This record gives sequence, C-alpha cells and structure tokens, in this order.
Amino acid sequence: MTLVLGIESSCDESAAALVTSGRRMLVHKLAGQDREHRPYGGVVPEIAARAHAEILPGLIEDVLAEAGIGLAEVDAIAATAGPGLIGGVLVGLTVAKGLALAADKPLIAINHLEGHALSPMLAVPDLDFPWLLLLVSGGHCQLLLVKGLGDYARLATTIDDAAGEAFDKCAKALGLGFPGGPALEAAAASGDPAAVPLPRPLLGADEPHFSFAGLKSAVVRAQETGRYSVPDIAASFQAALIDCLVDRSARAIQEAGVDTFVVAGGVAANRSVRDALAALAARHGMRFVAPPIWLCTDNAAMIAWAGALRFDAGMVDGLDAPARARWPLDPDAAPARGAGVKA
Ligand code: KG4
Ligand code: ZN
Repeated sequence: MTLVLGIESSCDESAAALVTSGRRMLVHKLAGQDREHRPYGGVVPEIAARAHAEILPGLIEDVLAEAGIGLAEVDAIAATAGPGLIGGVLVGLTVAKGLALAADKPLIAINHLEGHALSPMLAVPDLDFPWLLLLVSGGHCQLLLVKGLGDYARLATTIDDAAGEAFDKCAKALGLGFPGGPALEAAAASGDPAAVPLPRPLLGADEPHFSFAGLKSAVVRAQETGRYSVPDIAASFQAALIDCLVDRSARAIQEAGVDTFVVAGGVAANRSVRDALAALAARHGMRFVAPPIWLCTDNAAMIAWAGALRFDAGMVDGLDAPARARWPLDPDAAPARGAGVKA
C-alpha cells in the first residue's frame, strides 16, 4: 500500500496529512491563519507566505509523530504546486523538495484543483470516475467533468468573482467580518430571502459560466440605501447566489451526461447551498456527493490522496518542479468571455 505525505499552502491554511492508496487518511492537521489576516479584512499574501514558513515544519513533524511514522517509511511527498498565492505555494513546495531531497523520496507536484476534484474519493469508498464536480471556493468557481486521473474537462468557470469571494465581499460590505462566508450564512438565517430584489447574473445563459460581480455590487447598493436589514440583504444575496449555482449546474448536467454530481470547496460548507444542490441532483436522478466539510475546504489530505493516485500511476516529478500562480486543470478549455477570467 502506498503511503504519501501531503502538504498544502496555496492560500491561508497550512496543512499536512498522511494518506494511503487504500483511501485511508491516517492523520491530517491544519493551522488556519484567520487571526493574522483578520485585521486586514482579507488574506494578505506576504503574511500568508511567512506564516506557512513558520507553521509547516512543526505541523509536518506533528503529523508524522501522531501516526508513529518516520519519513523513511513514506513512499512519496506530495505538495500543492499551484494555482494559488505564489509566496505560499513556493514555501510549501520548497519544504516538500527539502524533505524529498533529505529522505531520498520522489516529489509529486499537485495541482490544488486536482486535489479538490479527487477529494470525494476519500470520503466515499465506492465513488468511481466519472463525475461532475461543482468546485465553489474562495478562489474558484468551476464545473469540471472529472473523467479520470489527470483527465478533466472544464465546462465552466467564473468570468469575474468566485462564489466564496462574493460571500466574503458581501459579508465585508454588510459589516459581518472575516472570514465572511460562515458569518453571512448565520446572518441570512433570520432574514427574508425575498426582501431585496437582486440580479441573478447569467441565469439561463447558454454557456454554463458564472458571474457574481454584479450581484455583489447590487448588495453594496442595497446596503447603502439603508432600507433593508442586514439579515434580509444576507438572505436575499444567498438566495440569488444559490439560484445561479443551481441554474449553471443544471446547464452543465445536460452537457456532462454522467450520473454523479459532487460539490466541493469552502462554499459547500453552506447548508442552504448543499440542500439546493442535493435537490437539483435528485431532480435529475443523479447521485449527490457532498464530502464532509473538512474535506471540502482546503486541506492536505486531498493533496496526499492525489499524490497517492499519481505515485501508483508512475507520475512523479523532478525537484525542479515549478510553483505556479496559475495552472488550469484543463488547458484545452475554451476561454470564458469577459474580463478577469480565473484559471
Ligand atoms: O475551499 P476554501 O477553504 O479555500 C479556497 O480554496 O478558497 O474556501 C474558502 C471560502 C471562503 O470564501 C469562505 O467565505 C467560504 O469558502 N465559505 C463559506 C462558508 N464557509 C466557508 N461560504 C458560504 N457559507 C459558508 N458556510
Ligand atoms: Zn481550495
């Protein structure tokens, strides 16, 4: 059985984990940096990179100690090599290279998006390719057809903000603090989702892409009128965003032609989002998979798992593997129309 140490550092979570090729997670540890970034109301890239440099070595030691495993017993070391905040990616990847060099182990450079795409396999033992994935996080909003290891078709992306980014920006505008997603969900619980008329960008559009910048601007304007309560705006925003996720996913389901629908990424922690997507899958007679929250948000178990699959397939990298700020999972995807398109 292959045993892989995984390292994640692409945003503001420092994480390390040990996973086997038998879909077994031995230990995973995560150190968030909310305290460091809160005074700035968002993630500050240099602060994140410095924090990863301070946190990761001790975290890796703890993971190995808790599992009672020496580095010599590990088959490979996998680390996120992009996409993400480049300083943090460089720190995690360089730590992995140092360990690989010192312990004479192969390095596996993982695309963070591949980590998210394959993560549900760790939670659902009988999940097998292919499936349609809605990846909704702070950095990404994509619909991906996951056909096999290293074989992904990007059906949709956002032409401006990611879904989690929209949650965070609206939460900030409503004075709800950082990180915004959970705070906005809590505020929405006591609001009326029909109270504020808000746009649903790209609803019904023929391509399955997303757009949330106009929705965010409308939330800011609604707040400025002083006519609505914060819970009402929060609930109306959440309802509009969910309508977009459901409509765009329904469009991709037509194209994908598969019978499993998976949601992952931090926004999948939102109860209303999960419920709406579960209902959508049921309407289409599809199996719905929403991994546990810890596996939906950034973590190193998904990086180690992708590493285990790659190691078993003979896909290892050299110590010169580059760190990449942008790294599309499907380089052949047609570019989405619009400005500021994310990888
Ligand atoms: O996957 P993740 O941990 O990191 C990225 O790769 O971005 O996702 C973080 C994002 C943030 O934008 C956060 O506000 C959002 O997920 N999020 C939520 C909830 N919990 C986290 N959004 C809505 N409702 C939540 N309960
Ligand atoms: Zn992520």
